[in-house]
Amino acid sequence: MRIGFFGGTFDPPHNGHLSALSAFTAECSLDRVLVMPTGTPPHKAAGKASDTDRLEMARLAFESVKNAEICDYEVKKGGKSYSVETLEWLKTQFPNDEIVLYTGSDMLLSFHKWYKVERILQLCEVSSFSRTGSDRNELEKQALFLRETYGAKVTVHDFSPQIVSSTDVRNAIANGDDISDLVPKKVEEYIKNNALYAPFDLKKAEEILRSRVNEKRYAHCLGVAKTAVYLAEKYGADPKKAEIAGLLHDITKNLSNSEQIAYCRENGIPLDDNELLAPQVIHAKTAEFFVRTELALSDEEILSAIRYHTTGRAEMTLLDKIIYVSDFIEPTRDYSDVDHYRALADENLDTALLEGLKWIICNAVTNNKPMHPAAIEMFNNLVNNK
Ligand SMILES: [Fe+2]
Ligand SMILES: [Fe+2]
Repeated sequence: MRIGFFGGTFDPPHNGHLSALSAFTAECSLDRVLVMPTGTPPHKAAGKASDTDRLEMARLAFESVKNAEICDYEVKKGGKSYSVETLEWLKTQFPNDEIVLYTGSDMLLSFHKWYKVERILQLCEVSSFSRTGSDRNELEKQALFLRETYGAKVTVHDFSPQIVSSTDVRNAIANGDDISDLVPKKVEEYIKNNALYAPFDLKKAEEILRSRVNEKRYAHCLGVAKTAVYLAEKYGADPKKAEIAGLLHDITKNLSNSEQIAYCRENGIPLDDNELLAPQVIHAKTAEFFVRTELALSDEEILSAIRYHTTGRAEMTLLDKIIYVSDFIEPTRDYSDVDHYRALADENLDTALLEGLKWIICNAVTNNKPMHPAAIEMFNNLVNNK
């Protein structure tokens, strides 16, 4: 038998994949074709579908293609799989059959750089599809090179797929655009029914925050958001981003220190020794991760302001500074010098930042508490640029 291997993230599968798979099956006279969604890192990135959803969408997208079947080997294995590893596995499953690997044009052109290319070319035949026709010569040249260098079996076919990418589909959904021309009907319905790739929803985020923190913390978050909007307007940052970062900066603060560490371990968030010695800073990291993965927020400026609100860092962005300062001057703070710091923030953001940081450092020194090196780097940077 001739067995095709058609891999991809399929996040989501689209009409371009569907036409490529149909062409692959027909042109290469395949008896069976295994569609292999790739494994993903243990944590789900913002705005991406889960493994279960990708497998189900692949099944729906390709069920009309004769002899195609979905294989969950890479998803079950988890993490990144090298093609050579999957091909070795396929060979154990189908020792007496011919395996044909599908590659797009770009993939064929960089094929000689693939991990263990020589072994791959012993394990399978490679079939490549010229997307535009204009790259045909280049593909033939590369095919010849692979044949001569590795004794590979490579074929090049002409093909004019619908030019669409999974990113196009996700962006269209985020913009509320129609996707009926981009994906198979059943995939469109699945995405809709499961609310996949839904954009960040501030109202929903606020509800989640409310359910996770106590009343006092919730009032603090609202206070930080309000102060951050005020400072953003004053110093020229984006008030909307300031509001979101302020609102969500402490969204995981309800977790205890040991829960923070466990959350990081479960989700592959690296922790350094300084964080383990002073775990109260970790909630900034877990909040960033939570907002990115659970709330589908992908704005790096907001995520960075959340991420650095406890330790700071040498090169703080304007939004980083605004959230850092808002955190200690917002209206529910009532320590004795708070009005002094509020007045400083009104005059000069960097001065307020430095004075606030000095207070934190002095407090740590007085109480024999360790300081995170990022805070020291921030201090050095601020005094050097004064
Ligand atoms: Fe915090
Ligand atoms: Fe806070």
